[in-house]
Amino acid sequence: MSDNGTLLAVEDIDAYYGESHILRGLSLEVQPGEICALLGRNGAGKTTTVRSIAGASPPDVRSGTIRFRGRDVTDVPVDDRSIGGIGLVPEERRVFSNLTVAENLRMAEVSRNRSNLIGRNIGEPAETVDVDVIYEAFPRLDERRDQLAGTLSGGEQQMLAIARALRQGPDLLMLDEPYEGLAPQIVNDVEDAIGRINDEGTTILLIEQNAIAAMAISDRCYVIDQGEVVFEGPSEELEADEEIRQRYLGV
Ligand SMILES: Nc1ncnc2c1ncn2[C@@H]1O[C@H](COP(=O)(O)OP(=O)(O)O)[C@@H](O)[C@H]1O
Ligand SMILES: [Mg+2]
Repeated sequence: MSDNGTLLAVEDIDAYYGESHILRGLSLEVQPGEICALLGRNGAGKTTTVRSIAGASPPDVRSGTIRFRGRDVTDVPVDDRSIGGIGLVPEERRVFSNLTVAENLRMAEVSRNRSNLIGRNIGEPAETVDVDVIYEAFPRLDERRDQLAGTLSGGEQQMLAIARALRQGPDLLMLDEPYEGLAPQIVNDVEDAIGRINDEGTTILLIEQNAIAAMAISDRCYVIDQGEVVFEGPSEELEADEEIRQRYLGV
Protein backbone atom coordinates (compact mmCIF):
# COMPACT_ATOMS: atom_id res chain seq x y z
CA MET A 1 0.00 0.00 0.00
CA SER A 2 1.06 3.54 -0.57
CA ASP A 3 1.60 5.86 2.37
CA ASN A 4 -1.99 7.03 2.49
CA GLY A 5 -3.43 3.53 2.06
CA THR A 6 -5.11 4.21 -1.29
CA LEU A 7 -5.82 0.93 -3.09
CA LEU A 8 -5.99 2.29 -6.63
CA ALA A 9 -4.74 5.64 -7.83
CA VAL A 10 -5.22 6.63 -11.45
CA GLU A 11 -3.20 9.77 -12.04
CA ASP A 12 -3.77 11.99 -15.03
CA ILE A 13 -4.02 9.32 -17.71
CA ASP A 14 -4.50 9.91 -21.42
CA ALA A 15 -5.83 6.92 -23.35
CA TYR A 16 -6.28 6.47 -27.08
CA TYR A 17 -7.82 4.14 -29.63
CA GLY A 18 -5.50 4.71 -32.54
CA GLU A 19 -5.46 8.48 -32.93
CA SER A 20 -8.76 8.99 -31.06
CA HIS A 21 -7.98 10.67 -27.79
CA ILE A 22 -10.57 9.26 -25.35
CA LEU A 23 -9.43 9.74 -21.74
CA ARG A 24 -8.14 13.26 -21.10
CA GLY A 25 -6.09 13.68 -17.96
CA LEU A 26 -8.38 11.39 -16.01
CA SER A 27 -7.62 10.85 -12.32
CA LEU A 28 -9.47 8.80 -9.75
CA GLU A 29 -8.80 6.98 -6.50
CA VAL A 30 -10.37 3.97 -4.89
CA GLN A 31 -9.96 3.39 -1.15
CA PRO A 32 -9.78 -0.09 0.36
CA GLY A 33 -13.13 -1.53 1.38
CA GLU A 34 -15.36 0.92 -0.44
CA ILE A 35 -17.86 0.60 -3.24
CA CYS A 36 -16.96 3.31 -5.70
CA ALA A 37 -19.23 4.00 -8.66
CA LEU A 38 -18.06 5.22 -12.06
CA LEU A 39 -20.97 6.88 -13.85
CA GLY A 40 -21.54 8.69 -17.09
CA ARG A 41 -23.48 8.60 -20.31
CA ASN A 42 -23.02 6.04 -23.02
CA GLY A 43 -19.67 6.77 -24.69
CA ALA A 44 -18.33 8.85 -21.78
CA GLY A 45 -15.27 6.61 -21.39
CA LYS A 46 -16.22 4.27 -18.53
CA THR A 47 -15.23 1.03 -20.24
CA THR A 48 -12.06 2.67 -21.54
CA THR A 49 -11.21 3.64 -17.96
CA VAL A 50 -11.59 0.15 -16.51
CA ARG A 51 -9.80 -1.45 -19.44
CA SER A 52 -6.92 0.96 -18.85
CA ILE A 53 -6.84 0.03 -15.15
CA ALA A 54 -6.95 -3.70 -15.95
CA GLY A 55 -4.16 -3.28 -18.49
CA ALA A 56 -6.29 -4.46 -21.42
CA SER A 57 -5.36 -3.38 -24.92
CA PRO A 58 -6.77 -1.41 -26.60
CA PRO A 59 -6.86 1.31 -25.34
CA ASP A 60 -3.33 2.62 -25.39
CA VAL A 61 -2.45 4.59 -22.26
CA ARG A 62 0.10 7.11 -23.48
CA SER A 63 0.63 9.22 -20.40
CA GLY A 64 -0.15 9.25 -16.71
CA THR A 65 0.32 6.67 -13.98
CA ILE A 66 -1.75 3.85 -12.54
CA ARG A 67 -0.80 2.77 -9.02
CA PHE A 68 -2.19 -0.27 -7.27
CA ARG A 69 -1.37 -0.89 -3.61
CA GLY A 70 1.22 1.82 -3.98
CA ARG A 71 3.00 0.16 -6.91
CA ASP A 72 3.27 1.70 -10.34
CA VAL A 73 1.55 -0.86 -12.58
CA THR A 74 1.25 1.34 -15.66
CA ASP A 75 3.52 -0.94 -17.68
CA VAL A 76 2.56 -4.23 -16.02
CA PRO A 77 0.92 -6.73 -18.41
CA VAL A 78 -2.78 -7.53 -18.06
CA ASP A 79 -2.33 -11.06 -16.66
CA ASP A 80 0.06 -9.88 -14.01
CA ARG A 81 -2.36 -7.18 -12.93
CA SER A 82 -5.05 -9.83 -12.63
CA ILE A 83 -2.84 -12.05 -10.49
CA GLY A 84 -1.78 -9.01 -8.51
CA GLY A 85 -5.40 -8.47 -7.46
CA ILE A 86 -7.08 -6.33 -10.12
CA GLY A 87 -10.23 -8.13 -11.33
CA LEU A 88 -12.51 -7.07 -14.16
CA VAL A 89 -15.86 -8.48 -15.17
CA PRO A 90 -16.23 -7.05 -18.68
CA GLU A 91 -19.44 -5.74 -20.21
CA GLU A 92 -19.90 -8.85 -22.32
CA ARG A 93 -20.17 -11.59 -19.69
CA ARG A 94 -17.78 -14.18 -20.93
CA VAL A 95 -18.88 -17.56 -19.67
CA PHE A 96 -18.29 -20.84 -21.47
CA SER A 97 -21.81 -21.67 -22.67
CA ASN A 98 -21.17 -25.35 -23.35
CA LEU A 99 -19.59 -25.97 -19.94
CA THR A 100 -21.46 -26.40 -16.68
CA VAL A 101 -21.42 -23.88 -13.86
CA ALA A 102 -18.96 -26.05 -11.91
CA GLU A 103 -16.70 -26.44 -14.94
CA ASN A 104 -16.73 -22.70 -15.56
CA LEU A 105 -15.55 -22.12 -12.00
CA ARG A 106 -12.83 -24.75 -12.39
CA MET A 107 -11.67 -23.06 -15.60
CA ALA A 108 -11.13 -19.87 -13.62
CA GLU A 109 -8.59 -21.80 -11.58
CA VAL A 110 -6.85 -23.19 -14.66
CA SER A 111 -6.49 -19.79 -16.25
CA ARG A 112 -5.04 -18.49 -13.02
CA ASN A 113 -2.46 -21.26 -12.89
CA ARG A 114 -1.55 -20.60 -16.48
CA SER A 115 -1.12 -16.94 -15.75
CA ASN A 116 1.11 -17.84 -12.83
CA LEU A 117 3.61 -19.28 -15.30
CA ILE A 118 4.05 -15.83 -16.78
CA GLY A 119 5.19 -14.51 -13.44
CA ARG A 120 4.06 -11.36 -11.77
CA ASN A 121 5.41 -7.96 -10.97
CA ILE A 122 3.07 -6.65 -8.34
CA GLY A 123 2.76 -7.85 -4.79
CA GLU A 124 1.93 -11.34 -3.64
CA PRO A 125 -0.80 -13.10 -5.59
CA ALA A 126 -4.12 -13.07 -3.80
CA GLU A 127 -5.36 -16.42 -2.51
CA THR A 128 -7.73 -18.22 -4.85
CA VAL A 129 -11.15 -18.13 -3.22
CA ASP A 130 -12.49 -21.56 -2.32
CA VAL A 131 -15.31 -22.67 -4.56
CA ASP A 132 -17.52 -23.49 -1.54
CA VAL A 133 -17.27 -19.88 -0.41
CA ILE A 134 -18.39 -18.82 -3.88
CA TYR A 135 -21.39 -21.16 -3.81
CA GLU A 136 -22.33 -19.81 -0.39
CA ALA A 137 -22.38 -16.28 -1.79
CA PHE A 138 -24.33 -17.37 -4.87
CA PRO A 139 -27.00 -19.90 -3.86
CA ARG A 140 -28.51 -19.73 -7.35
CA LEU A 141 -25.24 -21.05 -8.78
CA ASP A 142 -25.02 -23.69 -6.06
CA GLU A 143 -28.40 -25.05 -7.15
CA ARG A 144 -27.23 -25.09 -10.77
CA ARG A 145 -23.72 -26.57 -10.50
CA ASP A 146 -24.37 -29.12 -13.24
CA GLN A 147 -26.37 -26.87 -15.56
CA LEU A 148 -24.80 -25.70 -18.81
CA ALA A 149 -23.87 -22.03 -18.51
CA GLY A 150 -25.50 -21.26 -21.86
CA THR A 151 -28.87 -22.26 -20.45
CA LEU A 152 -28.65 -19.92 -17.44
CA SER A 153 -30.72 -16.73 -17.36
CA GLY A 154 -28.96 -13.42 -17.99
CA GLY A 155 -28.80 -12.69 -14.27
CA GLU A 156 -27.40 -16.11 -13.47
CA GLN A 157 -24.77 -15.71 -16.20
CA GLN A 158 -23.82 -12.36 -14.69
CA MET A 159 -23.46 -14.02 -11.30
CA LEU A 160 -21.31 -16.74 -12.85
CA ALA A 161 -19.11 -14.13 -14.54
CA ILE A 162 -18.69 -12.38 -11.18
CA ALA A 163 -18.04 -15.69 -9.42
CA ARG A 164 -15.34 -16.57 -11.96
CA ALA A 165 -13.60 -13.26 -11.32
CA LEU A 166 -13.87 -13.79 -7.55
CA ARG A 167 -12.11 -17.15 -7.79
CA GLN A 168 -8.96 -15.15 -8.55
CA GLY A 169 -9.28 -13.48 -5.14
CA PRO A 170 -9.14 -9.89 -6.39
CA ASP A 171 -8.52 -7.03 -3.95
CA LEU A 172 -10.32 -4.77 -6.40
CA LEU A 173 -13.23 -6.06 -8.46
CA MET A 174 -14.33 -3.84 -11.33
CA LEU A 175 -17.79 -4.58 -12.68
CA ASP A 176 -18.68 -3.10 -16.07
CA GLU A 177 -22.45 -2.58 -16.22
CA PRO A 178 -23.44 -5.70 -14.29
CA TYR A 179 -27.15 -4.81 -14.35
CA GLU A 180 -27.35 -4.35 -18.10
CA GLY A 181 -30.25 -6.23 -19.64
CA LEU A 182 -31.41 -7.73 -16.34
CA ALA A 183 -34.98 -7.71 -15.02
CA PRO A 184 -35.48 -5.51 -11.92
CA GLN A 185 -35.85 -8.48 -9.57
CA ILE A 186 -32.57 -9.94 -10.86
CA VAL A 187 -30.85 -6.57 -10.49
CA ASN A 188 -31.74 -6.86 -6.78
CA ASP A 189 -30.13 -10.29 -6.59
CA VAL A 190 -26.95 -9.08 -8.28
CA GLU A 191 -26.92 -6.02 -5.99
CA ASP A 192 -27.20 -8.31 -2.96
CA ALA A 193 -24.30 -10.38 -4.25
CA ILE A 194 -22.17 -7.25 -4.78
CA GLY A 195 -23.02 -6.09 -1.24
CA ARG A 196 -22.00 -9.46 0.22
CA ILE A 197 -18.76 -9.56 -1.75
CA ASN A 198 -17.93 -6.09 -0.46
CA ASP A 199 -18.84 -7.07 3.13
CA GLU A 200 -16.35 -9.94 2.81
CA GLY A 201 -13.64 -7.38 2.12
CA THR A 202 -13.43 -6.97 -1.66
CA THR A 203 -13.25 -3.40 -2.86
CA ILE A 204 -15.62 -2.64 -5.73
CA LEU A 205 -15.44 -0.25 -8.68
CA LEU A 206 -18.92 -0.34 -10.18
CA ILE A 207 -19.58 1.00 -13.67
CA GLU A 208 -23.22 1.70 -14.31
CA GLN A 209 -25.53 3.56 -16.63
CA ASN A 210 -28.30 2.99 -14.11
CA ALA A 211 -27.13 5.87 -11.93
CA ILE A 212 -30.00 5.59 -9.43
CA ALA A 213 -29.14 1.99 -8.58
CA ALA A 214 -25.40 2.71 -8.50
CA MET A 215 -25.75 5.76 -6.22
CA ALA A 216 -27.85 3.68 -3.82
CA ILE A 217 -25.25 0.94 -3.37
CA SER A 218 -22.03 2.99 -3.52
CA ASP A 219 -20.12 5.03 -0.96
CA ARG A 220 -18.57 7.43 -3.45
CA CYS A 221 -19.11 8.33 -7.09
CA TYR A 222 -17.18 9.64 -10.04
CA VAL A 223 -19.05 11.04 -13.01
CA ILE A 224 -17.13 11.24 -16.25
CA ASP A 225 -17.98 12.99 -19.49
CA GLN A 226 -15.93 12.95 -22.69
CA GLY A 227 -13.07 11.25 -20.89
CA GLU A 228 -12.86 13.75 -18.04
CA VAL A 229 -14.02 13.64 -14.44
CA VAL A 230 -16.83 16.16 -13.95
CA PHE A 231 -17.88 15.15 -10.43
CA GLU A 232 -16.37 13.26 -7.55
CA GLY A 233 -17.78 12.94 -4.06
CA PRO A 234 -19.96 10.97 -1.67
CA SER A 235 -22.94 9.31 -3.34
CA GLU A 236 -25.37 11.33 -1.19
CA GLU A 237 -23.81 14.50 -2.52
CA LEU A 238 -24.47 13.40 -6.09
CA GLU A 239 -28.00 12.31 -5.20
CA ALA A 240 -28.58 15.86 -3.93
CA ASP A 241 -26.95 17.58 -6.92
CA GLU A 242 -29.75 17.81 -9.43
CA GLU A 243 -27.79 19.92 -11.89
CA ILE A 244 -24.95 17.44 -12.28
CA ARG A 245 -27.35 14.52 -12.42
CA GLN A 246 -29.48 16.14 -15.11
CA ARG A 247 -26.59 17.38 -17.15
CA TYR A 248 -24.35 14.31 -17.18
CA LEU A 249 -26.59 11.40 -16.26
CA GLY A 250 -30.01 12.48 -17.45
CA VAL A 251 -31.71 11.47 -14.18
N1 LIG B 1 -12.23 -0.28 -29.66
C1 LIG B 1 -12.51 1.00 -29.91
N2 LIG B 1 -11.99 1.64 -30.99
C2 LIG B 1 -12.24 2.93 -31.23
N3 LIG B 1 -13.02 3.71 -30.46
C3 LIG B 1 -13.57 3.13 -29.36
C4 LIG B 1 -13.35 1.76 -29.03
N4 LIG B 1 -14.02 1.47 -27.91
C5 LIG B 1 -14.65 2.62 -27.55
N5 LIG B 1 -14.37 3.61 -28.41
C6 LIG B 1 -14.84 5.02 -28.31
O1 LIG B 1 -14.36 5.56 -27.10
C7 LIG B 1 -15.35 6.38 -26.48
C8 LIG B 1 -15.60 5.90 -25.07
O2 LIG B 1 -16.16 4.61 -25.12
P1 LIG B 1 -16.42 3.71 -23.84
O3 LIG B 1 -15.25 3.82 -22.94
O4 LIG B 1 -16.80 2.37 -24.32
O5 LIG B 1 -17.67 4.47 -23.18
P2 LIG B 1 -18.71 3.98 -22.07
O6 LIG B 1 -18.22 2.69 -21.50
O7 LIG B 1 -18.73 5.11 -21.07
O8 LIG B 1 -20.02 3.86 -22.76
C9 LIG B 1 -16.55 6.34 -27.39
O9 LIG B 1 -16.53 7.47 -28.20
C10 LIG B 1 -16.36 5.08 -28.20
O10 LIG B 1 -16.94 5.19 -29.47
MG1 LIG C 1 -19.09 0.84 -21.50
